[in-house]
Amino acid sequence: MNEQQKNNKHEPLRILVFSVSLRKDSLNTRLAKLAAGVIEKNGGIADYANMSEFDCPSVNQDLEIDNFHPPGAEEFRKRILANDAFIISSPEYNGSMPGLIKNAIDWVSRFRPQPFNERHALLMSASPSMAGGNKALWSLRMPLEHLGANVFPNMFSLAMAHKAYTSEGKIADETLAKRFEENLVAFMNLVEAAKNYPCMKKAWVEFLGEHPDPVTERVE
Ligand SMILES: Cc1cc2nc3c(=O)[nH]c(=O)nc-3n(C[C@H](O)[C@H](O)[C@H](O)COP(=O)(O)O)c2cc1C
Repeated sequence: MNEQQKNNKHEPLRILVFSVSLRKDSLNTRLAKLAAGVIEKNGGIADYANMSEFDCPSVNQDLEIDNFHPPGAEEFRKRILANDAFIISSPEYNGSMPGLIKNAIDWVSRFRPQPFNERHALLMSASPSMAGGNKALWSLRMPLEHLGANVFPNMFSLAMAHKAYTSEGKIADETLAKRFEENLVAFMNLVEAAKNYPCMKKAWVEFLGEHPDPVTERVE
């Protein structure tokens, strides 16, 4: 390794990975564990968490006395900030995200500075259905983007997940397994670029139907 290569060596990426399901035989927990394996295989560090660590009481502003945040929200915030990115594998409940993840996001959004802002996120789901729980991810994208997270455009949904794993817990279909890994590697490359190769960025955002003036000038 020459001097220049030595200087180019960066710290490994740290990525928080968790499944939103609390149940023991969760299909999403299997997917989250597979993702953690892919991260490690590709030189990253996976910080694997259980959703129970982020468990919070229902949001109630009356509880926000003396800057109170429940321990689950404190932990979620700490782990978001300690990592370069986070990956969520979520079940779909009634065409949307499970309430416990929305509740946890709402609690974490009350910290200042707001922890999701500018964090990178990748969303995955697994379901016995033919759509793989994909609608949960579209709903999950909404509050995360609202809070300023960079949610990776490609999401991964494992359809018929109850039949999709081998006995060792891998994705049985080779093409799908390859796509799963490639998507994770593409996400890691983006996070790596954003972390280690920042560049000057100038962008103009004009909203449909609005004329640019100082009031609508949101990003420059
Ligand atoms: C309250 C509830 C609502 C559900 N709604 C949906 C749904 O809208 N779409 C779907 O694909 N699966 C739905 N399911 C089935 C879950 O996808 C299935 O139980 C899955 O295994 C849950 O994820 P897990 O294995 O990671 O716990 C629902 C399950 C529950 C408990």
